[in-house]
Amino acid sequence: MPKLDLSLTLPPAHPRALRLVNPVMIASGTFGTDGYGDGLPPTFLFQDLGAVVAKTTTLAPRAGNPQPRMAIGWGWHLNSIGLANPGMDAVLRDKAPVWAAWKTPVILSIAGERAGEFAELARMAEGVPGIAALEVNVSCPNVEGGLEFGQSPELAAEVTRQVKASTTLPVVIKLSPNVTDIVQVACAVAAAGADALCLINTLVGLAVDSHRQRPVLGAGRGGVSGPALKPVALAAVYRTHDSVDIPIVGVGGITTAEDALEFLMAGACAVQIGTANFADPLTPAHVLRDLRLLLRRRRVTALRQVIGTAHHLGQSAAPSKAGSAASAPP
Ligand SMILES: Cc1cc2nc3c(=O)[nH]c(=O)nc-3n(C[C@H](O)[C@H](O)[C@H](O)COP(=O)(O)O)c2cc1C
Repeated sequence: MPKLDLSLTLPPAHPRALRLVNPVMIASGTFGTDGYGDGLPPTFLFQDLGAVVAKTTTLAPRAGNPQPRMAIGWGWHLNSIGLANPGMDAVLRDKAPVWAAWKTPVILSIAGERAGEFAELARMAEGVPGIAALEVNVSCPNVEGGLEFGQSPELAAEVTRQVKASTTLPVVIKLSPNVTDIVQVACAVAAAGADALCLINTLVGLAVDSHRQRPVLGAGRGGVSGPALKPVALAAVYRTHDSVDIPIVGVGGITTAEDALEFLMAGACAVQIGTANFADPLTPAHVLRDLRLLLRRRRVTALRQVIGTAHHLGQSAAPSKAGSAASAPP
């Protein structure tokens, strides 16, 4: 059987590019009970995954939103965690040294209240062993003002410029679906120097408790994730792939290898798994295992043979402009 090479370099030309052994990552906020890997089953070989994205970390510690913070329905989750995290100093002191010993790269997600604060967080992470890249969260719907940067192409571009000027790490900008046209924001941050995009964060939603006649979540609204988000995320990836030249990481509702393959075909060079981790933390490992089987069955030998193929109806393989796979197609 021909060898299957799932490795990729993200982004290909960056001097400190992420080298991923495969395209399956864990999405920010969903890695263990605290978003930093606590409470995972010892059987979970997460270090076989392409990368882990740690919980979004802010300058000061955040207690998060009032309880309840999660609601679950048919095909969807709603959360309003409110970026609860111990703050940047604690993460650099307590978490990064642990990550430095892992073979899987850790991408640190950061969020600030001003563009300058994003830049400060990026400077603090510079040169810290254990942090392989930054994911810039301009798209959290669960904090006051958390959407503003991602909703404005100009503000999102300004954050991107300031972060890029403050770090030598690859910078992934994570965008919000809560906009009229995500492609506009994607083009603005790409032009501002983003190394890659992560599409998408959660979609604003509400669950109502009809007995108590009030919203279910303590904070009122929350962010929709899980299978219901998948078509929205796929459309964002598909449309953005046509308009930008930087790699796209797809996230939203992925629970199976078939879901992951759909994102790759829509134009993502890698995928993240979020909500599905709460039902079963081994989901990313299963997705990776089954993705290998699916691709072998299709006689694929290199990742780039499937990236973006949904844009080329009738062709079985298309060259990828994003996230170059390490080996050439056959
Ligand atoms: C409980 C929970 C916490 C999350 N926390 C973060 C976060 O801190 N930063 C972030 O960028 N995204 C966060 N997200 C969004 C996910 O990373 C992901 O973009 C989104 O949930 C869609 O993927 P999914 O459908 O696979 O969950 C969170 C999602 C959930 C469900």
